[in-house]
Amino acid sequence: VEVDWSLEAAEKGGYPHYMLKEIYEQPRVLENTLGGRLSEARAGVELDLRVDPTRFERVHIVACGTAYYAAWVGKYLIEGLARVPVEIDVASEYRYRDPVVDERTLAIAISQSGETIDTLEALREAKRKGAGTLGVINAKGSSITREVDDTLYIHAGPEIGVASTKAYMAMLGAMAMLAVWMGRARGTLPEAEARTFLGELRKMPRLVEQTLEKRQEIAHIAEKYHQAADYLFLGRHIQAPTAYEGALKLKEISYIHAEAYPAGEMKHGPIALIDERLPVVVLTTESPIYEKTLSNIQEVRARGGRVIAVATEGDLEVRRFAQDVIYVPRTHYLLSPMVSVVPLQLLAYETAVLLGRDVDQPRNLAKSVTVE
Ligand code: G6P
Repeated sequence: VEVDWSLEAAEKGGYPHYMLKEIYEQPRVLENTLGGRLSEARAGVELDLRVDPTRFERVHIVACGTAYYAAWVGKYLIEGLARVPVEIDVASEYRYRDPVVDERTLAIAISQSGETIDTLEALREAKRKGAGTLGVINAKGSSITREVDDTLYIHAGPEIGVASTKAYMAMLGAMAMLAVWMGRARGTLPEAEARTFLGELRKMPRLVEQTLEKRQEIAHIAEKYHQAADYLFLGRHIQAPTAYEGALKLKEISYIHAEAYPAGEMKHGPIALIDERLPVVVLTTESPIYEKTLSNIQEVRARGGRVIAVATEGDLEVRRFAQDVIYVPRTHYLLSPMVSVVPLQLLAYETAVLLGRDVDQPRNLAKSVTVE
């Protein structure tokens, strides 16, 4: 047996790829993100930020790639808990669309590296127009942190895999805390509700750990579908961004064409693609609109599509319509993206490995993009 004593092998901590190592680090990462910031006594979050959350009438969030999907999740969290209107933009669009901004706007930039040029320029644009600025950032002392009024560090640790996993998890944790922080300060989130939500958030590292146990099951599903030419991902409300992130992961590392849609939009186009060769991943965890997503699954089935459902543990109904069900633990529906993205990361990973792709260094992609 050849033993690989190289530094790289040591750094991977026994995992064949950085990406897999980073997927498995997610429970610990989330503990770090939340660490010491959730306050039991005050039913709130201590973020040590100078930004005054009561001063703003609107929030603009800018980001690229995976960080953009964290922004999208953040929109539902902030609007849901703090009742402030939130606009989200892909940073490269924001900087050229002459956004309507004033001093009552809080501009948030989300970035793992803190170096993405489009995100930095979008932030500068908001700042020029008088917005307050906040970075939600992983890399200490990075360019964005030097230009914002304030930084909320996500504490994910160094991420090596080009396809982002643990930084996304940490971004979701940070956005959940930010939403509670704003909601408590603005008086839109009652104490009892905050307590319930924070109780669920505190459990999240353990729940994420449980989803990792599904790896074998997911490897089996990957095996079944890795020859597919296309994949479709569907989800509604706060699980729409999860669908997009799942499709992005698959595209990035397996090179299988994958498209994501808000499930309700399926009937306006993508339904034409459905046949027995198309695997359709549907995020159908418990939520106030669960039934609507379930009916989308039935529509896919009626047209011969293969359904892989990501559902809440104990949901037996979904089994009647989906060929494969990946169960994730029950949580507050606004936190469901955290438990649901893990199986999608693993699905992309296992598929890429089966196809012999370079998981950590996918072709044409860079870890951080500092050119326009
Ligand atoms: C690149 C990476 C993506 C990342 C995006 C934004 O495209 O390949 O994984 O999501 O940049 O990076 P950031 O550092 O700003 O979060």
